Amino acid sequence: MNHFELRGGELHCEDVNLARIADEVGTPVYVYSSATLERHYTVLRDSLVGAGLKDPLIAFAVKANSNVAVLRTLGRLGAGADVVSEGEIRRALAAGIPGERIVFSGVGKTEAEIAFALEVDVAEINVESEPELHLVNTVAQRLGKRARAAIRVNPDVEAGGHAKIATGKAENKFGVSFAEAERLYANASNMAGVTPVGVACHIGSQITDLAPMEAAFRKMRGLVERLRAEGLSVERLDLGGGLGVPYFNQPEPPSPADYAQMIGRALQGLDVQLAFEPGRMIAANAGVLLARVLHVNRRPEGRNFLVLDAAMNDLLRPAMYDAYHDIRPLRPRDGAPETYDVVGPVCETGDTFTRDRQLPPLEAGDLIAFMSAGAYGAAMSSEYNSRLLAPEVLVRGADFAVVRPRPTYQDMLDREQPAPWL
Ligand code: LLP
Repeated sequence: MNHFELRGGELHCEDVNLARIADEVGTPVYVYSSATLERHYTVLRDSLVGAGLKDPLIAFAVKANSNVAVLRTLGRLGAGADVVSEGEIRRALAAGIPGERIVFSGVGKTEAEIAFALEVDVAEINVESEPELHLVNTVAQRLGKRARAAIRVNPDVEAGGHAKIATGKAENKFGVSFAEAERLYANASNMAGVTPVGVACHIGSQITDLAPMEAAFRKMRGLVERLRAEGLSVERLDLGGGLGVPYFNQPEPPSPADYAQMIGRALQGLDVQLAFEPGRMIAANAGVLLARVLHVNRRPEGRNFLVLDAAMNDLLRPAMYDAYHDIRPLRPRDGAPETYDVVGPVCETGDTFTRDRQLPPLEAGDLIAFMSAGAYGAAMSSEYNSRLLAPEVLVRGADFAVVRPRPTYQDMLDREQPAPWL
């Protein structure tokens, strides 16, 4: 459920007419609903607790939406942060999320990043390989600290979804095998700079079937039991993120309640603190990208190109993953639907949001919303074609605030400097 709906023929976010934001802030612009973010977080938390899973750490995957106001909205409810860089750690801290609720993942952490994570006392560093374990040990000893480490396992399951975002097969770059995890965990327990606190997995993103998740989680349970049988202490099991969301045309993904019940069954009796790293399921349907129609280019041979002021640099998912985003006019006009190719102004054929989409009739100047753009939308945007980053707006009830303003062209130019010989 989300808080974007037509009221009096106009698309609103909570109690704010989206056309008002488009007019006052300009387009393209990302708009997020506080109520939807809060609802998705609390539904997940309540489902997990309701399934008997005590005191879960829900670490929002900052890569999905790294806006500090969004992070603060979730952090105020008790959310932690799953981060993959020093930049994301700094964003989480800036949002008031304490180190003890930060989980540091990622296959290639630098020495400086590990040192920073240790200085701010993150809850757990998810170690993805043997060389990384040694690096964490060395850096921690140099700083006179012990790193709380979890070993990230690659459970080798096929999770479906797009090949570019599947992470849980043995051929992917993430994590170590179960056998390696046992060996590394035992090694880690003898290291002066490391305390192994748990094991972690994450098998992919936009997963719409619980079966591969359940298979992976049961394997993880086996690992925890084997480690404990060897006399090693395992406090935490991090199950990653990955639950899919409805992007309108796809099969309904499992509900958070079904997901929680499945976990409750798979892990029954295993006394361990669970951690989660959800990104998309919290943020995707809490955000939209608003754009204005620049032209309707009606080709004599029959194709209608809807040329928008938003482009692939603002929302990369369709170009990168052939992703489907529902497109809704902010003020739907009466009349028979028409078929459009919806494109941006960037000089690449790939700058096509969708082809042959049936939409209510649209004219130049009309406003549209790309739905479900709150995750991996603004976070993946760039200035390609020297287009300014789209601003971000947070709505709460009848109020809205610009939480990342649109930069000026001067801001963009000021980030560069001349070479002395030019
Ligand atoms: N934890 C780890 C270690 C991850 O790699 C990811 C996502 C997550 C958690 C969060 O997964 P989620 O709950 O959001 O599915 N840019 C792509 C998605 C990439 C996901 C990468 N890892 C997209 O737009 O579909």
